[in-house]
Amino acid sequence: MNTKIWLSPPHMSGLEEKYIREAFETNWIAPLGPNVDKFERELSRYLDGHDIAALSSGTAAIHLALILLGVGYEDEVIVSDFTFAATVNPILYQGAVPVFVDSELETWNMDPELLELAIIDRIRNHKKPKAIIVVDIYGMPANMEAILEVSAKYDIPLIEDAAEALGSKYNGRHCGTFGEMGILSFNGNKIITTSGGGALVAGNSELTDKARFLASQAKENELHFEHSQVGYNYRMSNVLAGIGRGQLEVIEDRVAAHRNNRQRYLELLSEIPGLTFQSEPDDRYFSNFWLTSLVISRADNHFNSRSVIRALGADNIDSRPLMKPMHLQPVFKNQPAYLNGNSEYLFNHGLCLPSGSNLSDQDIERIAGGVRSARGIK
Ligand SMILES: Cc1ncc(COP(=O)(O)O)c(C=O)c1O
Repeated sequence: MNTKIWLSPPHMSGLEEKYIREAFETNWIAPLGPNVDKFERELSRYLDGHDIAALSSGTAAIHLALILLGVGYEDEVIVSDFTFAATVNPILYQGAVPVFVDSELETWNMDPELLELAIIDRIRNHKKPKAIIVVDIYGMPANMEAILEVSAKYDIPLIEDAAEALGSKYNGRHCGTFGEMGILSFNGNKIITTSGGGALVAGNSELTDKARFLASQAKENELHFEHSQVGYNYRMSNVLAGIGRGQLEVIEDRVAAHRNNRQRYLELLSEIPGLTFQSEPDDRYFSNFWLTSLVISRADNHFNSRSVIRALGADNIDSRPLMKPMHLQPVFKNQPAYLNGNSEYLFNHGLCLPSGSNLSDQDIERIAGGVRSARGIK
């Protein structure tokens, strides 16, 4: 059996161990400490001075962002339909209602025109949505100009779910820094990892200070434990922040490697007709291409996204269908949705290819060879 190729495995730089060792040597084995403070500062520098609260996961960051915007019971939150369930679950934690908005085909992210139609309809028939969560799927920035315009026009705050998009940019500005707040994930499969972790990004420290407070059980500044609101245990561990510091030093190499993977796939698969790769629509967009993703638009019974996934799997290669849209998930099936068929089309016809920054040239040739032979090309 050939060696296993994973979809998006962690890729350590070797620099992480120094910071972890420091944590052990100084006994800062806690969800606070120098690595957490420095990781926040270093990430803030990378994100052009935006404030950072380092947290236990991206999901926790979304949850806190919703709380900070005052989202509560029966409030409505507009959210991308084409995403991972972690974007949506925190809306339910708050007893609020997700309202799904489908994708445009240019970026595969939230369609700004459909967003406006959804808002108009919610306001006319129900009530004004309390927040919008827009996702940068697979690292591709959403159409921020248009989305921000709608958010401003209706005065509804925006949360940018950039869990997959650290290192991506729109109009030269970092993903994660758009809207009222942004969130990042450092889960093991992401462009950089802390094994598990996330961050809340905001333009001012008022929000991140409040997030740190809520993430530390909302402990008031007293000698005894005093609590006047509900808190959470959502801070990042000082050991894991050490991993993050070592990872952050190589972020630009990682982005370059992911972009290079996609370029190699484009070259090696160019002979196959009817493959549409997720692509930057114009030069405003710069994607980290976290996962190389494509749609097989000329599919048949023998060559389609699922047959390719099975063929790669038979050679010990991990690949995955594109996101199953939220409105099709049994857990969310009764929630309101504004649809145009695009996310369903992407799900039915697309797949993500292995995209780790530690893939070798031979690995990519083996994977592309697997796709080509599934098509019957040697
Ligand atoms: C789009 C998106 N949002 C949110 C999350 C949640 O991040 P985490 O796994 O760090 O909780 C993820 C990844 O897992 C994601 O891909």
